[in-house]
Amino acid sequence: MRGRGGICVGLWGSEETDFTQRGAETQRTQSGERKRKEQDKERKKGKKKRMDKFLIRGGKALRGTVAISGAKNSALPVMAAALLTAEKVAVHNIPKVRDLVTMGKLLTFMDAKVSVTEMPASDYVIEAPTLRHAEAPYELVKTMRASILTLGPLMARLGVARVSLPGGCAIGARPVDLHLSALEKMGAEITMSHGYIEAKVPGNGAKGRRLKGAHVVFEKITVTGTENILMAATLADGETILENCAREPEVTDLVAMLRKMGAQIEGDGTATLRIRGVRELHGTEHRVIPDRIEAGTFLVAGAITGGDLTITHCEPEHQSAVIAKLQEAGACIETIDKTTLRVRGGKKLVAADMTTEEYPGFATDMQAQYMALATQAEGTSMITETIFENRFMHASEMIRMGANLSLDGRRAVVRGPAALSGSIVQASDLRASAGLVLAGLVASGETVIDRVYHIDRGYEGIVEKLRAVGADIERVHGSGSGVHASVPVPVT
Ligand code: EPZ
Repeated sequence: MRGRGGICVGLWGSEETDFTQRGAETQRTQSGERKRKEQDKERKKGKKKRMDKFLIRGGKALRGTVAISGAKNSALPVMAAALLTAEKVAVHNIPKVRDLVTMGKLLTFMDAKVSVTEMPASDYVIEAPTLRHAEAPYELVKTMRASILTLGPLMARLGVARVSLPGGCAIGARPVDLHLSALEKMGAEITMSHGYIEAKVPGNGAKGRRLKGAHVVFEKITVTGTENILMAATLADGETILENCAREPEVTDLVAMLRKMGAQIEGDGTATLRIRGVRELHGTEHRVIPDRIEAGTFLVAGAITGGDLTITHCEPEHQSAVIAKLQEAGACIETIDKTTLRVRGGKKLVAADMTTEEYPGFATDMQAQYMALATQAEGTSMITETIFENRFMHASEMIRMGANLSLDGRRAVVRGPAALSGSIVQASDLRASAGLVLAGLVASGETVIDRVYHIDRGYEGIVEKLRAVGADIERVHGSGSGVHASVPVPVT
């Protein structure tokens, strides 16, 4: 990208990535504007037509080495945190996935300068000396719920924000009431208007518009809620105590970055965070932690295919719950060193019940992948989803592939091992897609996974990484509603 006004071409095939929708628009001449609008229309038409799929021929044991990328769910709040300072923030190890590009666009929309030297990029420089648009528009929020993470920083820095309500999504209703009630405790006035959260700190001038420290006890553990209010509190007047906080490594990573920016925070890694507000934060440089969900997905890939995978650039400590569960199910997992794990399958997989929990428990973001493994384990595995009310969308697709499973509210009962057979299946959300990819890797024949734009939101180069360790998987640039598995498809 070429700084403000730049357009980056080449991410995900022919698609253009424009960080600068608003910035560029203001500079256009009228005729240039018309031409540009026509080009945008064409581009959007092209985008609509293209619906990529994955084609997987299962049955290969995966062997080799996979390097884990940066954590999407860490990079998102870290990028939003750059709004808290007028100074330059450099962020490294950003995963090259769609959600981060969307976050870049959102920050640019607000008038921040977002620079990268290549596209897609893993190093970003963000500079927000002024923020002219304290707004997260619907068009961006609808594609990425994490846009809500800009609410806390905007309120902290400007005392005013207008953020589109994220609404529900495939995995559940996902309200943001806890984010809003915490901000109200900190002195914000919040109204809902035309689908937008409109928040402001009453008063005049910089001092009057400052949030004030408060004592907040979250009724429920919320990851982005904790992150949002943590960021809001860094510039508040006085001390904020947050109780019943999420303890996910992504929250701890955000604390580490905020501290480098001059924030005064205690209690990271615990359920209680104490933040003493400061007048200003300064620029910094930060490297985001490895993606524990991507690492967990590859651990399952090694185990389910009976392979032998070495997983590098990861943080084994963050994998404790997943490692313990996979070992219970018969996988052999070793910690090689501080950043490397090795998983070997081959032994018979056996059923093991699993319940999703907040960190340090078994992550809901690994539930679909674990379900794929449970279909191959001997015996009955009970899988209980406690975090989201509707996170079993992948189950019906796995049943179409031959899985023997039934659902009872928040519990899935999986009987295995089942001989899965390749089918055409639909991805419904990011992690459901990962579960279907894993099922496809052990199914006989060809599996076509439709709507893989979900997986592009959060897994960097998953096709390339799987192919490098022996999987027979390819991306098919499809259009229309489906590709029949027996029809020859173009190779990417
Ligand atoms: C984060 O979502 C992650 N997203 C999700 O990752 C992850 O599944 C989830 O945490 C749980 O670990 C990011 O970090 C960007 P929550 P978040 O608020 O913060 C309820 C992925 O695949 N709740 O911790 O939105 C909520 O409905 C994704 O990468 C309220 O009731 O989740 C849910 O039942 C998807 N009111 C529970 O709390 C609120 O105000 C936990 O949600 C907020 C949440």
